[in-house]
Parts: sequence; structure tokens; C-alpha cells
Amino acid sequence: MKRLVIVSNRVPSPKPRGAPQAGGLAVALAEALAGREALWFGWSGETSDTPGPPAIATAGSTRFATIDLTAAEKRGYYGGFSNGTLWPLLHYRMGLAEFRRDEHETWRAVNDRFAATLAPLLRPDDVIWVHDFHHFPLAAALRAQGCHQRIGFFLHVPFPPAALFDALPQGARLLADLAAFDLLGVQTEADAVNMRDALAGIGASAPVTAFPVGIDSQSFAREAARAASLPEARRLAESLGGRALILGVDRLDYSKGLPQRFRGYAALLKRFPEHRRRVTFLQVAPVSRNEVAQYRALRRELDELAGRINGEHGEIDWIPIRWMTRALPRATLAGFHRLARVGLVTPLRDGMNLVAKEFVAAQDHDDPGVLVLSRFAGAAAELKGAILVNPHDPDEIAEGLDAALRMGVEERRTRAALDRAMLATNSAADWAKGYLAALEATGESMRGAA
Ligand code: G6P
Repeated sequence: MKRLVIVSNRVPSPKPRGAPQAGGLAVALAEALAGREALWFGWSGETSDTPGPPAIATAGSTRFATIDLTAAEKRGYYGGFSNGTLWPLLHYRMGLAEFRRDEHETWRAVNDRFAATLAPLLRPDDVIWVHDFHHFPLAAALRAQGCHQRIGFFLHVPFPPAALFDALPQGARLLADLAAFDLLGVQTEADAVNMRDALAGIGASAPVTAFPVGIDSQSFAREAARAASLPEARRLAESLGGRALILGVDRLDYSKGLPQRFRGYAALLKRFPEHRRRVTFLQVAPVSRNEVAQYRALRRELDELAGRINGEHGEIDWIPIRWMTRALPRATLAGFHRLARVGLVTPLRDGMNLVAKEFVAAQDHDDPGVLVLSRFAGAAAELKGAILVNPHDPDEIAEGLDAALRMGVEERRTRAALDRAMLATNSAADWAKGYLAALEATGESMRGAA
């Protein structure tokens, strides 16, 4: 089997086991890679004044090669164009996007440096798989270094309608960059339609296919069952005093719809007072991308909102919202999911949302919780057992919560079994295999034609 080269901004380079890890990408790929010879290349997450050659580490059959960025590179490439421009735009949030030409230049220069550093590490028959919006220009940059390997791309986040993407001053150039990949993978059919449309708009074409990311649901289920009896989950269970747990787990990101979610919970307490004192809402939202102003503003907004809702609805022996901005290990969260009566996952827009899938996987088959899910998460196309809500509308969130809390055990079992069966058809490894098989096939037909 050919060596697989993964490129992504974040590299889960050998860290202590169990350390908290933001984002589902690292988790999905780590599960998919087990046993195959691979090189994983990306940013170390560190900055240094004079970045040197890549640092190399090995774990199992994977070698990790990571490079530092300078502080200026990190500002322009990561906090600037990737997360200050592309992230909001790709999540349909024009109003939050900032357009600065110098940040785009830095972003491009970092991608060029990635290509120049990676090229000498490559073998002629490697298969290269590039991940996410940080690296749109990487195939073009590698080709400029003389690389002829097959290069695929997978976008983990949504791709917006062409008219919206068109607002990006460098939009046409980025689309031309994308067309240099041999295969473009996205999460859903809707994303595929949008991306094809945008490519057609500049007269380019490249194969675009939806490959929804899956999770290894059986191992996550085992993890959850184990974790439910560990001290952290027991502390949580005891502290609930028999109340139903509503659980939210997200990076602290404006795409996750957290203010609307908090207002939705407040609307539940107001409009359906029979749930007062009988529920506790725990929102875990580790701080993320704190160097970007919009994220700092969101944190302030949520601190205030949680305080206000607790002040207004709380009682001397009942705090309605528990709000944590620290990261927790994935295994601990698995146990929390299993304890929850409701999983509340209401992003305004999300590529897939693996937390929704993890919640489903973690449930006890006999007494499962209910997923209340945004219809704008990629996962909504697959999880038919969830209660779907419009995440912009606090009243609809409140109604979804009320329905979930009142749902009888029979219906909960039926819905959970439906979603469990769906998850079993697409593990993280299935997803990676499906993508890579398509990449190899695409390469063949293109090469055959040449
Ligand atoms: C999303 C993106 C990933 C990113 C993750 C965490 O899941 O699709 O590419 O790694 O968020 O964000 P961060 O900025 O901390 O890498």
C-alpha cells in the first residue's frame, strides 16, 4: 500500500494520552490511520523567531513532521486570513468577516513555505491528502515545487453559496487553487452543489464529491460506558440530584449558536415552567481562537448571558445554567453524554458536527437521551432520530427541548436505534477509505487521459 501523506493545520503530534484536544478532525483521522504507513505534516502550534527544519516524531506507523510559525505568520495566516476571513465566510457569516490584503499574502506565503518544506520529504508514489480551509492553495504550491503525486483535498467546514463566496476579494484565485487538486471532498451534498457552482463561475472544474465524516461509534460507546462510572461523571451525576441533564459541548465559536441556545433554554424555563427545578443545563465550551476579536466578544456575551439567566431564573438551591470554558478530556465528555437526558447541538451552520454523532453513540440503549439538533449542521442530513430545530429561533429551541424532555422511553429507544444503525454504516475508517479509494480512481482516469 502506498504511503499516505496527511497535511493539516493542526497535527495531533504525540501528546500525552488523554490530553484534551480541540476539534474533531484530529480524532477522525487518528482513528482512520491506524496501521497504515503515513506521514502527517503541519504546524506545530508553536511560534518561534527563526523557524528551522521540521521537527520529526513517530508514533506507531505514523511519522509526524511539524514546523513552527513566526508570530507575524501566525497572526496573518491563522488568526487573520484563516480564522478572521475564511472561517466566517465559509460559515455564511459575511458580517463577521474581515478582509485584509496583507493577511491574505501572509496566508499564501505560509502555504508556499509548507509546500517547500514538504516537497523534499515526499516519495514519488505517495498519496497526499490535504485537510481544510487553511490550505486551499497547497496543491498549486506543491505543483510549483515539481510534485506530481496525487493530491486530494477535504473541506471539513461548509462551503457557502457561490454568490456569498464571490464577496471574497481573492475568491476567484482561491477557486483556481482548488481546481489544482485531483479530488475535492466536502461533507454534504449541499456543500458539493455550492462548490461546483462556484468553480463553474470561474470556468474551472474539478471533481467534487460529498464524503460525510463518520466516527468510530462502537469504541466511543465503550468509552462512554466506562467513563460513566469514573469519578468525574459520578460527581456530575450526584450533583444533579435527580434532575434531567441538558448537555452542550462545543468549542467557544460563534458558528455554534451559543447565545441563541442560552436564550432557547431561558425560553423553555419561561414558557414551560413545569421544567423549572427539574432540569440542569451544562454547557462546556473550551475557549478557542482567543487571538481573534470576535471570539473574545462572544465569550463576554456568553458570560453575561449565563449570569443574567441564572440571576433571573435561579433559586437558592437551583442554578439553571452551569457554564464552563475549560477543555475536558474526550473520555470524560463521553461519560457526560451518556448521563445526559438531552444533547443540545444547535450550530447556526456546521460542516458536520461530530459531537452530535458522539452523543448518539454514547447513549445507553435501554434508556437513551434525545438529541436536539440544528437543521443547519451537516449531521442533520444523517441523524433522522434527532429533533431538528431552527437554531436562530429560541422559541423553536425551547419547543424542541420540551418535546425531548417529555418523550417516553419507547420513542427514545426507536429514535436512538435508528441513529445508531446509521452511525454503524460509516466509521471514521470507512470515511477515509472511501475518500482515498475515490482519490486513487480519479488520479487513474486523469493520468490515463494525459
Ligand atoms: C474545526 C476546523 C478544524 C480546526 C478545529 C479547531 O473543526 O474544521 O480545521 O482544527 O475547528 O480549531 P483550531 O483553530 O483550534 O484549530
